[in-house]
Amino acid sequence: MIKFTIITLFQEAIEPYLKTSMMWKAVDKGLAEFDFVNLRDFGLGPHKSVDDTPYGGGDGMLLRCEPVFAAIESIKEKDPTALVILPTPVGETWTQDLARKFASGLGAFRSAAARELAPSARGDGPDGRGPESDANFLHYIILCPHYEGYDERILSLVDYKISLGKYVLTGGELPALIIIDSVVRLIPGVLGGETSAEIESFSDGDNLEYPQYTKPADFRGMKVPDILLSGNHGEIAKWRKEHSGKAK
Ligand code: ADE
Repeated sequence: MIKFTIITLFQEAIEPYLKTSMMWKAVDKGLAEFDFVNLRDFGLGPHKSVDDTPYGGGDGMLLRCEPVFAAIESIKEKDPTALVILPTPVGETWTQDLARKFASGLGAFRSAAARELAPSARGDGPDGRGPESDANFLHYIILCPHYEGYDERILSLVDYKISLGKYVLTGGELPALIIIDSVVRLIPGVLGGETSAEIESFSDGDNLEYPQYTKPADFRGMKVPDILLSGNHGEIAKWRKEHSGKAK
């Protein structure tokens, strides 16, 4: 079971996707759980403010420390093992390999990002406690920043900084969904049918899936390769291996 607690100002932008298709099925099967924390609930003053202008000047607003610390502390009070993910363009680039590590829990703590972890999260703190002590339950908190960025001191709470790629988005909601989707589909039992080993083979390094076809065998003159109609499983496997895509 993997639980994601998403701290956001825009739950409505995320929730419909998580209530759809495989994400919903994962929850229904008891393999995943999604929870939301509204950052606004921890905002300051009558307007529940969560952001302010940067010291030193500059454009835009930054997420303030107080609401973010209070929100994360409220979650960690209930589950101190929860790990904090911050989507940010300056994080480690998200890959299938990282998704696999986050899905299995154990390996996640040996990633490059893990070396920068706070000792308690790494599991080598004084009490040796870490999420790998209970591989059956993993809890990730995803903090979705908005506005122009966040106060740097927020990083003291963060276990993993994750970038989706070399472009800048307006907030952490889309990265949160991508991280969640790519991790949850790797939980054994979520996709049904496939064994996790088979899933691994598709996601090995940069090997992508081979071309696939369904009926009809001839669509407007575009024909399915004969080999796939041959029933020769050995040859089909060979063809698929030869035609597996490579990431650019
Ligand atoms: N927030 C804004 N841009 C981002 C990116 N490319 N990856 C992760 N989080 C982001």
